[in-house]
Amino acid sequence: MKICCIGAGYVGGPTMAMIAKNCVDSKVTVVDLNQERIDSWNSDDLPIYEPGLLEVVKAARGRNLFFSTEIDQTIQDSDIIFISVNTPTKDYGSGKGRAADLRFVESCARNIAKVGGGNKIVVEKSTVPVRTAQMVKEILGESNNGFSYQVLSNPEFLAEGTAIADLENPDRVLIGGDQSKEGLEAIEKVVSLYNQWIDRENIITTNLWSSELSKLTANAFLAQRISSINAISALCEATGADVDEVANAIGTDSRIGPKFLKSSVGFGGSCFQKDILNLSYLCQHFGLPEVAEYWDQVVRMNDYQKDRFVQRIMDAMFNTVSGKKIAILGFAFKKDTNDARESPAIAVCSRLLDERAHLAIYDPQVPKDTILSSLRLDANDKRVSFHDCATDAANGTHAIALLTEWDEFKKLNLKEIYAEMEKPAHFFDGRNLIDPIEVQNAGFRLHRIGKG
Ligand code: UDX
Ligand code: UDX
Repeated sequence: MKICCIGAGYVGGPTMAMIAKNCVDSKVTVVDLNQERIDSWNSDDLPIYEPGLLEVVKAARGRNLFFSTEIDQTIQDSDIIFISVNTPTKDYGSGKGRAADLRFVESCARNIAKVGGGNKIVVEKSTVPVRTAQMVKEILGESNNGFSYQVLSNPEFLAEGTAIADLENPDRVLIGGDQSKEGLEAIEKVVSLYNQWIDRENIITTNLWSSELSKLTANAFLAQRISSINAISALCEATGADVDEVANAIGTDSRIGPKFLKSSVGFGGSCFQKDILNLSYLCQHFGLPEVAEYWDQVVRMNDYQKDRFVQRIMDAMFNTVSGKKIAILGFAFKKDTNDARESPAIAVCSRLLDERAHLAIYDPQVPKDTILSSLRLDANDKRVSFHDCATDAANGTHAIALLTEWDEFKKLNLKEIYAEMEKPAHFFDGRNLIDPIEVQNAGFRLHRIGKG
């Protein structure tokens, strides 16, 4: 089968690399408007940092995996087209700040209709609101080019930082399509791709709308667990309970389970907030304001957690950070990625800058330019400095705020770091990452999420 994927991003790139690795009889071409991105996919310096990705790409690239900007030609030649372009929250017009911006998905559909080339299966890989496939179908259906199209939904559940393991061995693959004869045949074609490395019983097939809605629902449930434990972390701080002990105690109940119960400075990433806002917008649209309100609260709790973290910093530092220097350890929204989209570090740093703090930032993977643009700062802003290691960032600061759980932070030489800081020196552990005894023995005043 000839496969095209439009969008060489965090989802399209790794997913197609895995399909190419496992489906050696298929030719997989990932296309993107962005020439620089494509050049980077064709080099050893990939545009995204993801453990194990380079090996997978190298195994297939040039054999049956290609990266190209020849979008029209690739669409024309392909039997299956995955749409994996970004679907950000709308920042204009109706639904601003809540609805998903589907203009890139729509323009892909229009382009597929225009280019033609034969009957095709068009697969929504991007996360989209339920019933988006209707729009795609209508655009393709009215193309009058004589070809027929089947539209499927195949949402991606990989998490960044563990994308390769998630793709190699997913909990499930979900494929939705029309329940007509042609729809079911199209579903089976895509099933047969995944079935080359994933057991059939782990491939779930549904109707289109269930598949679209399941993706939003999965992300909403995961985020809701984090907001729930973060809500409890505030109560722990007030009462002397320890949030990790509570999480462990409830997580051993097999009905609750242990995952996604780690309290933190808040969830980040390109998906959770966007998808919940979108879910809530859909509920409003379908006349279900109470349901919308229920899910909105998950995002509000997340914002509250980030605010609370900054408030703790303020409280501990005698209610002013003006002119004080604070080291920011970690800017990525989680470890093992260079992605800072919606990272809690953005909200925390922005508020600290509003309070006139100076920030000394270190992240092992997020580029300086990404940090500057996330914080809307220009390159010569004197309030921020960038460093090559945590020790260097902490030098001369009054406090450390640990915002991403990078493994390397567990190995810091805390005594050495403490010696070079202003006293009293504070350590704000937004991820409960570092052994509290070690931090305190080094001399720090320690402040952790969910600990009194
Ligand atoms: C994905 C999904 O598609 C999104 O819906 C989901 O919620 C999160 O994951 P992601 O892969 O993270 O998005 O997006 P991004 O890394 O921004 O990549 C999208 C790519 O599509 C970009 O490289 C962009 O240049 C490309 N693009 C966008 C096109 O090639 N054509 C377009 O019309 C629009
Ligand atoms: C998420 C979903 O997990 C994935 O299935 C979907 O395809 C895309 O969205 P991702 O955002 O890449 O993946 O990472 P995830 O591991 O879910 O973490 C999201 C955020 O939640 C991170 O900021 C992480 O630090 C935070 N988190 C996660 C917690 O604060 N506590 C936890 O217990 C787990």
